[in-house]
Amino acid sequence: MSRERLNVQAPVHELIAARWSPRVFEALPVEVEKLASCLEAARWAPSCYNDQPWRFLLADSHQEEEAWQRLFDCLSPGNQTWARRAPVLILACAATRFGHNGQPNRWAQYDTGQAMMSLVLQATALGLAAHQMGGFDADRVRQAFAIPGDFEPMSVLALGYPGDPAVLDEEMRQRELVPRQRKPLEEIAFAGRWGLGFTAPDSLGWEARYQESPPERLPWYHPDLDPDVAEALERFGIEGGRVLDLGTGPGTQAVALARRGFQVVATDVSPTAVEQARRLAEREGVEVTFLVDDILATRLEGPFDLILDRGVFHVFAPEAHGRYLAVVSRLLRPGGLLLLKCFSVEETRPEGPPGRYAPEDIQRIFSGPFRIVEIRPSAFARPGDDNPPKALFCVLESEEESR
Ligand SMILES: Cc1cc2nc3c(=O)[nH]c(=O)nc-3n(C[C@H](O)[C@H](O)[C@H](O)COP(=O)(O)O)c2cc1C
Repeated sequence: MSRERLNVQAPVHELIAARWSPRVFEALPVEVEKLASCLEAARWAPSCYNDQPWRFLLADSHQEEEAWQRLFDCLSPGNQTWARRAPVLILACAATRFGHNGQPNRWAQYDTGQAMMSLVLQATALGLAAHQMGGFDADRVRQAFAIPGDFEPMSVLALGYPGDPAVLDEEMRQRELVPRQRKPLEEIAFAGRWGLGFTAPDSLGWEARYQESPPERLPWYHPDLDPDVAEALERFGIEGGRVLDLGTGPGTQAVALARRGFQVVATDVSPTAVEQARRLAEREGVEVTFLVDDILATRLEGPFDLILDRGVFHVFAPEAHGRYLAVVSRLLRPGGLLLLKCFSVEETRPEGPPGRYAPEDIQRIFSGPFRIVEIRPSAFARPGDDNPPKALFCVLESEEESR
């Protein structure tokens, strides 16, 4: 079990992706073998001078019930509301001085944090869940467990098997289910100079998304041909030709178009998405040419009769619009259509792409290289979603003189 992560910027190991801090645990005890492995993982953490300044005090409610209660009583009231379900509590302490020379060890807390992360990752690998807490009374813990003066109580970890959030009260359940987010990489990692943000290629974020989420859970997933696209094909009497499906993702649109007799080229920046799409086409017995390709640096050759963009344009910053327009109008034959679906300004949820457009924006951006045939309000509809993200559906015709 893991929790959705927003603004992921590059793929990470599945163990790191799966770790999170839940607030609900099963009543099951943690096997001593698993507990030992978690502690062993912590033991093999790196530390300054290999001083191993960490010490762990275990309180297993199934083994040391009285100690568990004593440690639990030191937690802040807020943490007690959920940590009462954790079968194991582990207090982590850091030495204040180096063992080899008695000098102050300013890395001990850093090292103890690393050991705890090893413990937490080992727990995750074993199917356990761990939630660290700084919210506890350190003086009370020191007294309750006679912690020596040269060790500092740092955190209490709740450990157990992840439970079902349904048992939580409404407020806590909402907190439990809200997708996780992080500061952007550019804000926390600098390249060569303090403040100069490290930028990861955008394609890596998409790759991570496709690696982590089953296609059906992606907000832009539609199992059949998007109804707006189907309607436009019918209205404009388009029954065949060469189509480019931009940002094909799980490949459902490409496959639906191929089934209708179109000759389809489908691209995505994510190799995982392209592989998933290729497998779908194979299962469905249709022929589609799939390619890993970035439209802003495309290797594609036109001409296409039709380009379908259901969510690529709106991820680009305004600086990339010129490049996008140049490429798309080069790839379309004169009179060819761009069917564009993008987020609408009317969509106010914080999650989603940065680009949200009003009809006037589309007019302004696309006029010139394109004749605006139609712009109308729509949605990224998904079966069973009664509040789908608001979108604009646009039909844009490539102008002869623009090439
Ligand atoms: C040193 C430390 C202290 C923390 N203290 C608390 C705490 O007292 N109560 C709590 O609910 N979560 C606590 N957390 C958990 C963080 O809130 C959590 O790690 C963070 O929100 C990121 O969420 P994630 O672990 O699910 O990725 C603590 C985490 C750390 C590392």
